[in-house]
Amino acid sequence: MSLITLGIESSCDETGIALYKMGTGLLAHALHTQIAMHSEYGGVVPELASRDHVQRVIPLIRQVLVQGGVTLQDVDAIAYTQGPGLGGALLVGASVANALAFALDLPKIGVHHLEGHLLSPLLSNPAPDFPFVALLVSGGHTQLMRVDGVGEYQLLGETLDDAAGEAFDKSAKLLGLGYPGGPALAALATKGRSGMYKLPRPMLQSGDFDFSFSGLKTAVLTLVKQSSTDEQTRADIAYAAQEAIVDVLAHKARAALAHTGLSQLVVAGGVGANRLLRERLTHDIEKRGGKVYYPDLEFCTDNGAMIAFAGALRLAKQQGDKRYQFNVKARWNLAEITA
Ligand code: KG4
Ligand code: ZN
Repeated sequence: MSLITLGIESSCDETGIALYKMGTGLLAHALHTQIAMHSEYGGVVPELASRDHVQRVIPLIRQVLVQGGVTLQDVDAIAYTQGPGLGGALLVGASVANALAFALDLPKIGVHHLEGHLLSPLLSNPAPDFPFVALLVSGGHTQLMRVDGVGEYQLLGETLDDAAGEAFDKSAKLLGLGYPGGPALAALATKGRSGMYKLPRPMLQSGDFDFSFSGLKTAVLTLVKQSSTDEQTRADIAYAAQEAIVDVLAHKARAALAHTGLSQLVVAGGVGANRLLRERLTHDIEKRGGKVYYPDLEFCTDNGAMIAFAGALRLAKQQGDKRYQFNVKARWNLAEITA
């Protein structure tokens, strides 16, 4: 049976809705980003995020149904992001998803946001096969995982402090750039020159797969304080910061492939949109006979497609339920979920 799953993502500052049909693929997806609204404040304001999700979620569901050429009666199951994320924002998507499921008497499933990111490269063509190593690099997480199947995740290493996305965002803020900092810093870095500044690469030689980025932020702060504020200097610092982050990520990802003996690397999460990271990983890994897979750019950052897809895979394993109750998990360790 080719089930149609409606997916709802509302964990942070993006309302993402999608329809995924088993055997066919993505029927439609739509996204509303709150970036413009939060940029005034230099970061996400949780209360504003929740209120905006409330406004957007129903119109976006309607839009996706029209785009997909289906009605609510054609939908077979509902998937939503159950966590981790902002509690209030998660509750908006979870409430709508559960209300729809109750009203339509459909199974529903709460999806782990990072599992969505982790599986999102499988939406692309060509897609990787299991097993693979996943480098999960988002605003809140930096992890290397061994993935043997849906729900079969083994943590190889993770950040001990700031996430890679946070390192981008905080460095960008120190350079006076807006939110979100990652793309802004990457854009400024294109005007930077190589070799002008050398920033630390924490834990590069630690021999494990853990990361630490908080020292980098301090080094950028010191550099910014000591340097002039002209555009070229700021671009040179942005260049050095991006180089340092990408260097560490690429080095550890390569080491994780060597350690596991696997040849496929999957890169997921918002930082996976970074062009330098993509170039470096592809170059380093493909010259060793490996292959790197990325989600399409629109599915790198938060989106509904990855939630509909991950939900559909779990529903195919009969993991949905029709209970008249639900909760959200603002904090939720990926290692807690199982096949
Ligand atoms: O996965 P995501 O959309 O949301 C979370 O679940 O966190 O990731 C957002 C993060 C932010 O830190 C943002 O600055 C970063 O991804 N990001 C980038 C780029 N695009 C987004 N970082 C570096 N270069 C980019 N092009
Ligand atoms: Zn995310």
